[in-house]
Formats: sequence, C-alpha cells, structure tokens
Amino acid sequence: MEVVITPEASIGELVADDITALLTRKPDAVLGLATGSSPLRIYDAVAARVARGELSLAGARAFTLDEYVGLPVGDPRAYRTVIEADFVSRVDLPTELVHGPDGRAPDLAAACASYEEAIRSAGGVDLQILGIGTDGHIAFNEPGSSFASRTRVKTLTEQTRRDNARFFDGEPDLVPMHCVTQGLGTIMEARHVVLVAAGGGKAEAVHHLVEGAVSALWPATILQHHPRVTVFVDDEAASRLQLADYYRSSYARRGMVTR
Ligand code: GLP
Repeated sequence: MEVVITPEASIGELVADDITALLTRKPDAVLGLATGSSPLRIYDAVAARVARGELSLAGARAFTLDEYVGLPVGDPRAYRTVIEADFVSRVDLPTELVHGPDGRAPDLAAACASYEEAIRSAGGVDLQILGIGTDGHIAFNEPGSSFASRTRVKTLTEQTRRDNARFFDGEPDLVPMHCVTQGLGTIMEARHVVLVAAGGGKAEAVHHLVEGAVSALWPATILQHHPRVTVFVDDEAASRLQLADYYRSSYARRGMVTR
C-alpha cells in the first residue's frame, strides 16, 4: 500500500495523472467510478484535461460501485444520476458504456449476478477509484461484510444513513435502508485501487485502513491484502497515522530507485 500525504487540492491532479497514464497505455481501459464528495476533485481534474484536449475517455468503459435500492430512475440522489452529473456528462466517456448496479430490478439477486458478469466480460476493472466511509466502509460494504463478498444487497448502518442524510433534506430516515453494492471480493479484483480521503472526519477510518488489524469491523482493511493500492490523504485525514513521517519521506524520495 502506497500512502501519499498531500494537500487536498493536489489529490485530483495526482489521480488524474494515473488515469492519463492508464488511458495512454490502454485507451479502452475499464474505470471503476465512485460517488461521494471525495472523488470530486479527481473528476474536476479529468474533465479539465478532456476540455483542454489533453485526454480522451472515448474508448474507455466504466462501472460504478453501488446504488440505493428503490429510488426512481433519474432521482437526483440516485448514484447513477450523481455520477452522470459529477463526471460522465463532463467528459467524452460514452454514457451507454457506464454501467451501475440496478437498485430497481424486480429480481435484485439476478441483477447483482449479471452485474458481476458484465464486469468480468469487460475484462475486469483497471483502475478503481474509492472513497471511504467514516465507519470504514468502501462502496457500501458496511462493517461485518464478508471479505469474499460479491455484488449484493446490503442494509446500511445508522452511521452511514446519518452521514448521507445531507443529500436527503438532513433526514437520516429518508435515506434508503438498502443498497446494492459491489462486494469486497469484487473490488479486490481491480488491478489498481486508488482510495482518496480528506478531512479529520476520515482520520480514524484511514488509521484502520493503513495501519490497523485486518478486520470485518473496518471493511477497508481488506485492501492491505491487495497488491496495488494507492491511498491519497490530506494532513487531517492522515493525522492518526503512526508512520506518517515515513510515508512523507518515502513519497518525497520516489523515483530515486526503479520500482
Ligand atoms: C457513500 C458511498 C461510498 C463513499 C462514502 C464516502 O457511502 N457509498 O462509496 O466512499 O459515501 O463519501 P464521501 O466521499 O462523500 O465522504
């Protein structure tokens, strides 16, 4: 796991560099997109590069992580709507090549299985963008999620419903109780995982993610078993990292040896 401690304002450009390098090498790459406030600076940076003609996503495909169960198509809070507004509509990625789990399917289990199949037949995700919940969830894999889990229905914790109430008139009770989400096992198959977190509210989750014991209580800790994870955090999100000085100095010395 590579930990990069950097001002929040620079995280977007750094991840956009990774995306640019990937698409230069592989124009038909498969991107894993996350909703939430954490990836917004990445999407801004990528959209600016596309607008300047420096980058094209025209040959790429994408899969989103999760969706609420039961929200109507086009609901402004549905993650499909959010990712369209935050990212897809601002770049040249064909919207029909952006897939998301279906939270409205009459048979949710069958829809989850076909989502897994769609990711597999696209050749798997090359670069997965992730945020992290204050309770350590990634996508909507709440504490207690199986490390081997695949796309499935989950029940949201009270903590997550409180955190996400800001999109539902501040009312946790209006946040859907259920979601469909890629599983931890699904996410672990992405070839490169890039997790971004900023602010003191994420410090405890980031501490567990990077330095804690691998535990179902902090689902993101499974990423310690992934061969290629880059964690971008600002000073506040890094404030509980015991080895912060080491991460800073090793990042400052990157490029001194070929890795
Ligand atoms: C939601 C999403 C996650 C996201 C998390 C943190 O629960 N399902 O994918 O990482 O919120 O969101 P934010 O980045 O807004 O703090």
